[in-house]
Amino acid sequence: MKDFNYYAPTEVVFGKGSEEQVAHLIKKYDGHRVLVHYGGQSAKRSGLLDKICRLLDEGGVFHTELGGVVPNPRLSLVHKGIQLCKEQQIDFILAVGGGSVIDSAKAIAYGVCYEGDVWDFYTRKADAKECLPVASVLTIPAAGSEMSESSVITNENGDIKLGYSNNISRPKFAIMNPERTYTLPPYQTAAGVTDMMMHTMERYFTHDGDMDLTTAIAEAVLRTMKDNIFYVLKNPEDYRFRAQIMWGGSVAHNGLTGCGIHDDWATHQLEHELSGMFDVTHGAGLAAIWPSWARYVYKEDVSRFVRFAVNVMDVPNDFADPEGTALRGIEAMERFYHAIGMPINIHELIGREITDDEIKEMVRKCSRNYSSTCGCFKVLQAEDMEKIYQMAK
Ligand code: NZQ
Ligand code: ZN
Repeated sequence: MKDFNYYAPTEVVFGKGSEEQVAHLIKKYDGHRVLVHYGGQSAKRSGLLDKICRLLDEGGVFHTELGGVVPNPRLSLVHKGIQLCKEQQIDFILAVGGGSVIDSAKAIAYGVCYEGDVWDFYTRKADAKECLPVASVLTIPAAGSEMSESSVITNENGDIKLGYSNNISRPKFAIMNPERTYTLPPYQTAAGVTDMMMHTMERYFTHDGDMDLTTAIAEAVLRTMKDNIFYVLKNPEDYRFRAQIMWGGSVAHNGLTGCGIHDDWATHQLEHELSGMFDVTHGAGLAAIWPSWARYVYKEDVSRFVRFAVNVMDVPNDFADPEGTALRGIEAMERFYHAIGMPINIHELIGREITDDEIKEMVRKCSRNYSSTCGCFKVLQAEDMEKIYQMAK
């Protein structure tokens, strides 16, 4: 069992009408001049953005707005946000949206407190010492950024998507009203659930199998998400199911399912190259990679994959054939992805065959010019990455 620090300082304000508390919460965390950061259209269309601005006005909180965050959020808008914050002496950033908006908000928050280019943090040229406080009104459960220490940004100059993690960016509070997720289309709902399940699975596939409590929590998260997604797709406006998925997204990525274990993250790193190059939805990209990763690595610990097959995917345990049980677990996961409208390979994801040159380029980026490995369950060298991309073709 690995030693660990569990640090999850975000105040979660969960439930119907929770956004009513926004002005009070910002003042509680010492915000006076607020940048309200948002995405494309959804928060405007639903009236949420207007409501937040009205609540801030009524609470006497100065605010200015910056919209336009796209999925796989771009560095150019981050630069624009930093400039705006400096001009307006902003001291608090409120993200109204999903992972992309929150990640963009975190990047702006770092950049305002730094003399150089904020991209330095993502390329590991520098480490952030301070950042503005960030908080969110979450509209899509998926990335878990509302409680996480991570931010993932795409530099359009070269289509490079990189993450940066630092505890100082963990949001002060997260307002979560499941009713605000009723408008999510089925594809985004399913991609979100795929992402949160993968945040759990990146930690579940570990060699620290003696941390049974963490494993049991992870299995509970996985089973609950796997069952609830079907209810949500059938009844998008049923509060009970939307609520469990919303909370699941945070629990999956606030560190709880990683206590005492070494985590993997190879599927995420392999996927980031896909969404960096093809601008696909992150959760769908994960579904396209995971089955191939799983088949490539399961022999590192067949018993772990058997446990996953039996306890999560409801596969009968064939004690005489552990490998067969493990492989049937992976097949069951593929059937699940298809049942919720997710792809299980790159062809299904991007709608055409990926070329060998494109794979080579993704390997180059994923291995940081052949200088770095990824994963922990099985440490992947550049040639392993290439084989997995080829299997996932
Ligand atoms: O832009 P709008 O119009 O708001 O539409 C968004 C967007 O198109 C839409 N949407 C959001 N809430 C909605 C809604 N549509 C209808 N009703 C609502 N209530 O959903 C689309 C996707 O939004 P996005 O924020 O991109 O989704 P998600 O939360 O999945 O975030 C994905 C990003 O997070 C990164 C991913 O790489 C990707 O860039 N990640 C961040 C992590 C972190 N910070 O800890 C960890 C993750 O592993 C992930 O890498
Ligand atoms: Zn993810």
